[in-house]
Order: sequence, then structure tokens, then C-alpha cells
Amino acid sequence: MAEAPATIKVIIDNIPVDVAPGTTILQAARMIGGDVTPPAMCYYSKLEGSGGKCRTCLVEVSKGSEKDPRPMPKLVASCRTGVMDGMEVKSMTSDKVLDARKGVTEFLLLNHPLDCPVCDQAGECHLQDLSYEHGGAGTRYEFDRRTFDKEDIGPYIQLHMTRCIMCYRCVYTAQQLTDQREHGVLDRGDHSTISTCIGKALDNEFIGNVIDVCPVGALTDKTFRFKNRVWFTKPVDAHRDCPTCSGKVRLWMRGNEVFRVTARKDQWGEVEEWICNDCRFHKKEASDWTIEGPSVVNRHSVISQGHYRGVASPSQVQNLMPEIMGRDPKFLLNIHEVSDVNRPQVDLSKIGGPAHGTNFLPNLHTDDV
Ligand code: SF4
Ligand code: FES
Repeated sequence: MAEAPATIKVIIDNIPVDVAPGTTILQAARMIGGDVTPPAMCYYSKLEGSGGKCRTCLVEVSKGSEKDPRPMPKLVASCRTGVMDGMEVKSMTSDKVLDARKGVTEFLLLNHPLDCPVCDQAGECHLQDLSYEHGGAGTRYEFDRRTFDKEDIGPYIQLHMTRCIMCYRCVYTAQQLTDQREHGVLDRGDHSTISTCIGKALDNEFIGNVIDVCPVGALTDKTFRFKNRVWFTKPVDAHRDCPTCSGKVRLWMRGNEVFRVTARKDQWGEVEEWICNDCRFHKKEASDWTIEGPSVVNRHSVISQGHYRGVASPSQVQNLMPEIMGRDPKFLLNIHEVSDVNRPQVDLSKIGGPAHGTNFLPNLHTDDV
């Protein structure tokens, strides 16, 4: 019997690439990179069984293989279709594909609320990116959007079921990372919902990772809720000696305050190394971490606004000012001396929950906030 070749050739949008047998079209496209790569809302290379749910990754196979050059009759989900030797695929170069992506985006948005102005995921939401790149200007949907009873799934993770796109990533994460999965998909079709059975709290020590895999704002970090917009924070890579996980994280800071801790993500928005709840939810002091330096942020991301690599922290700049100017800087007005409207001693990141006006009352003791 003839031996299987070590690599096979596939052409995607007229760009040839050699890949190992068993590679999917999506993985092959990721090897080429750039616009050729189909969007993927449910596939996650680190989660076994993921993919095949959202249909955002549809592509056209215009030539099946060298042996059987017939085109595939329908668009296929690239995350679930393996490449064949000599296969030719159209992604961005197919009008059919672009039209289908527009339709899929419209479907995903049918029940999705326009929460972006208040959603903590704004700025790093894959559905926002998808609708920006592939969505239409309007919707043809005329019915009321789905609503759900609010469910409290524990002290650290906020569930907004109306935003969920049923990608199953959080379910696979809980199944494959934790020793006891407490949530899953209940009911079928339009009634499907992510829920615990019944009213349980998600408190496994690796369960915080469901926040990072969720492509939308359906699962967010309660300790960061409404504290800041991600593009106002500065992501830095940091590590600590953690007995439970690798301890390699990304800190989202403003000044010297740590607002949020997440896992580091790669260029596809996938977690590089899973982190534990202790690192994510309980280590919110800069002194808990050894800071490595600013994270690399894609320059097309809204998070890259005001994010300059190699910039010193505000306190370092303050210390350098007299040296550079040859004298102490003179402020025209120090707002804190003339007004109580802002209280610099209030650390937003340390308020347990969203900040309210009461957190800034002048007679409130700092320890009360
Ligand atoms: S909650 Fe998020 S990760 Fe879980 S199924 Fe819904 S969209 Fe996917
Ligand atoms: S990424 Fe392929 S179906 Fe969702």
C-alpha cells in the first residue's frame, strides 16, 4: 500500500500552503493568516469537540481534491472539514461565502441585544468584530427578542443569557478543565439556555476560564463589572509563582491599579495558558505580580488606542519631571485641592461591584468604599 504523503497541498484564495494530513481548512487558512482566515465564533483549537455550531467559518470548496476535482455542492464549515491533497478553497474571494457570512451574522444578531454601550465585553467582543466586518446595516427580524429570567451563577461570573450565541465553548471548557461541570445547555432550539441545574454556583478553581473563552459578553468577570472600558486600561504581561496554574497572566491596569486579570490570548483570541481563579479574582495588587512589560496588542484593535509600548508609569513620569525640566513642575490648578467631585483615594478596582455616586461621598471613610 502506498504511504500517505507527509504533507498535502491545498490552495486557499489562490494561496498555496502545505499542511499535514488531517488538518482542517480553518487551520490551513490560519497558517496563511490575514483576511484569508475565516472568522470562527465557536471553534477553539484548545477545546476538543468545539466547532460546527455557529457557521461563521463557511467556505466554498471549488475543487474537492486532485483525485476528485468536483466542487462541493454546498458551502462547508471550514472548522470541521479536513483538507484533501489538491483541494482548492475560496474564502474572501467567493461572493457566495461573503453573502453567507452576512446572513449568519444577521442570524447571530437576531436575539442579541444592543448592549454594547454597557457591556463589559465591548472592545474585545468577537460578535462586534464579526458584525463590523461581515454584518449588514439592518435586520429583517420583526419579533421581540428572547428574554430570560436572571440567574445568579456565583460570586465571580456574571451570566447574561440574552447575549449568548450558544457556541458551547464554556461547556467544553468546564467539561475538559474542571473535575466537576456544573453548567450546560438546557432545553432545545429557540429555548436553549446556558444554566446550572439548578441554581448552583460555578466555583471550581479553573472555572474563571469560561469568561475568557466566551466570544461575547454572556459570561463576564463580576470583579471587573462596570469598572472601566477595556480600551482605557493598559494590558501588561505579568507572572507570579502560583501553585495551581502557570501564573502567566495579562493584567489590565490603569495607573498602578489592577482592574482585571485574564489569561494571555494569541492572535486568534484564544487563551495561551489557562489560569486559576486565585490568580484571576484574588490577586488584584500590582505587588502580587512580576510585571514583564506591555502586552502586544493588535494595532487594529480598539484596545491599542493610547497603548504605547515602553511608556513609563505615571509615578515614574512624575519622578522624572524635575530632572527633565530642571525644576518642580507647576500645576495651574490641582483639581483635588479645589473640588470634592473626584476622590483619588478611592480605588475603583477595589469597590466590590459597580461604582455608584455614594462611593465618592466626601464624608465617606476610604475603608468604607
Ligand atoms: S455563554 Fe458564552 S461561551 Fe457559553 S455558550 Fe454562550 S456564548 Fe458560548
Ligand atoms: S467556527 Fe466553524 S461552525 Fe463555528
